[in-house]
Amino acid sequence: MKFFIDTANLDQIREAAALGVLDGVTTNPSLMAKEGITGRNNILKHYVDICNLTDGDVSAEVIATDFKKIIAEGEELADLHEQIVVKVPMIRDGVKALKYFSDKGIRTNCTLVFSAGQALLAAKAGASYVSPFIGRLDDISTDGLNLISEIRQIYDNYEFETEILAASIRHTMHVIDCAKLGADVMTGPLSAIMGLLNHPLTDIGLEKFLADYKKGN
Ligand code: E4P
Repeated sequence: MKFFIDTANLDQIREAAALGVLDGVTTNPSLMAKEGITGRNNILKHYVDICNLTDGDVSAEVIATDFKKIIAEGEELADLHEQIVVKVPMIRDGVKALKYFSDKGIRTNCTLVFSAGQALLAAKAGASYVSPFIGRLDDISTDGLNLISEIRQIYDNYEFETEILAASIRHTMHVIDCAKLGADVMTGPLSAIMGLLNHPLTDIGLEKFLADYKKGN
């Protein structure tokens, strides 16, 4: 399973990368705004800064919602850096754009996916990644993890190469459950990744080992 961090915060990206387990980064317009990154030039520069902190894929989202503008914006983003993956929303013109980008060899991440039907369409259009938002489904009392299983089954049935990028991960158990269900990638906050480290028996065991070592030395 690949680990992506879902943030535009450079310090958090550095921290995840320093652990040695980071495979990429996803961003969205809300995450960029949260870091105070505004204005087209600053946004483009920030994507390049992120690319320089990781060897992996960096999803950069288009703002446009009509086909021609999505294409223009996506091509500008893809030209920024070879690690950029163009993030396109699951809307009618977005699906057309996914196909266009796929035919041109530009990699894409289809975002805001909330149903198996949308995921099927994204794969048919040649998306490199599909991003089902499991946390937001859970927020409305729907089973986000079930969507991961449905997409896994559909993609396996037809050997689609689109990677399932479990998104809107909120906590460590989401990461573990998505791994059990066969998601190819998960993207979540730093806390969800770091939470994988924790077990009280590890802490108790280490404390005892170190105390016993001190007794004899
Ligand atoms: C995915 O690429 C999105 O950036 C993200 O996972 C959304 O998560 P949220 O529902 O926590 O905002």
